[in-house]
Amino acid sequence: MPRGGGLMAPGARLLFLLAVWTLAALARHGTGKAGDGGWQRPGPAVLAEEQRCAVERRADLSYSEFVQHYAFSRPVILQGLTDNSRFRALCSRERLLASFGDSVVRLSTANTYSYRKVDLPFQEYVEHLLYPQDPTSLGNDTLYFFGDNNFSEWASLFQHYSPPPFSLLGTTTAYSFGIAGAGSGVPFHWHGPGFSEVIYGRKRWFLYPPEKTPEFHPNKTTLAWLQDMYPTLAPSARPLECTVQAGEVLYFPDRWWHATLNLDTSVFISTFLS
Ligand SMILES: *[C@@H]1O[C@H](CO)[C@@H](O)[C@H](O)[C@H]1NC(C)=O
Ligand SMILES: *[C@@H]1O[C@H](CO)[C@@H](O)[C@H](O)[C@H]1NC(C)=O
Ligand SMILES: *[C@@H]1O[C@H](CO)[C@@H](O)[C@H](O)[C@H]1NC(C)=O
Repeated sequence: MPRGGGLMAPGARLLFLLAVWTLAALARHGTGKAGDGGWQRPGPAVLAEEQRCAVERRADLSYSEFVQHYAFSRPVILQGLTDNSRFRALCSRERLLASFGDSVVRLSTANTYSYRKVDLPFQEYVEHLLYPQDPTSLGNDTLYFFGDNNFSEWASLFQHYSPPPFSLLGTTTAYSFGIAGAGSGVPFHWHGPGFSEVIYGRKRWFLYPPEKTPEFHPNKTTLAWLQDMYPTLAPSARPLECTVQAGEVLYFPDRWWHATLNLDTSVFISTFLS
C-alpha cells in the first residue's frame, strides 16, 4: 500500500480544518441525539476529503492473516470482529453519568512527554471540560480523559467490553478508556502494539513507521500540528492516515508513531498488548 494515499490538496486541507472547527463550534450549542449515545451534536456533513484513507480496512480477518500481514508490519482497521452493542449502550452520556457521575476520574494533559494529572468527578469533566478543542491552546494546558482508569470502580462497565480476539505471544492486555471533545487528540508518541476501538464519534489517526520520526512540538495539540505542520510536509513525509468510525478497531504495531484527532466528541477504548 503506497504511503500518503490519503493526501489532500492544501485547499482541501484548509476546508477540512474549517469543518472540524465549525463542527466543534456547533457542538457547543447543539443537543444530543439518542442514536449517538447523547454525545454528538448536529454539525455539518462529513467532508469527502476526510474520508480518504491510506490504512487497509479488513472485515472478518482471521488470526493467521492478522499475524502474517499486519501484527509486526503495518496498521490495519478491523471491522466485524466483536459485537460491543451492549457496551456501547452502557456508554451513552446518560448511562455513564447515572452510573459514574460521582466517581473521580484522573485526567491527563494532551501533550507528548510530561503528563500533568488532575483528579475530578466524572460529571464535572463531562459538564465543564468536555468542550471542543480551542485551536490556539497548548496540549500541556488541555485536559483529556484517557487511561488511568479505576477498573475496580468501573468494573460493571468494563466487564461488558469484548476486546479484539487477537493477542500476541507473550503479551498481556490492558485497557485504557476515554472520552474527549471534538478537535481534541494526543500528539505524536509511540509505545507497544495494541488496538483502539471507537465506541461513539470518529477518530482520525496519523501514523508513521518506527524509523520515520515525525517533526512535531511535544506541547502542541494535534489540531495545531494539522494546521501548521502538515501543510508544509513534502508528499514523501506525510503520514499514513485514516478516520476510524464507531464500531471499528485500529491496530497499531509496536513502536509506530501516532497522533490522533477526535472529529466528534468521542468515546473510545484501547487494548494495549505489552
Ligand atoms: C506549556 O508548554 C509551553 C511551551 O512548551 C510552556 O511555555 C508553558 O509554560 C507550558 N504550560 C504549563 C502549564 O506547563
Ligand atoms: C512542555 O511543557 C512542559 C510542562 O507542561 C514543560 O516542562 C516542557 O519544558 C515543555 N516542553 C517544551 C519542548 O517546550
Ligand atoms: C478506585 O475506586 C475505589 C472505590 O471508589 C477506591 O477505593 C480506590 O482508591 C480507587 N483506586 C485508585 C487507584 O484510585
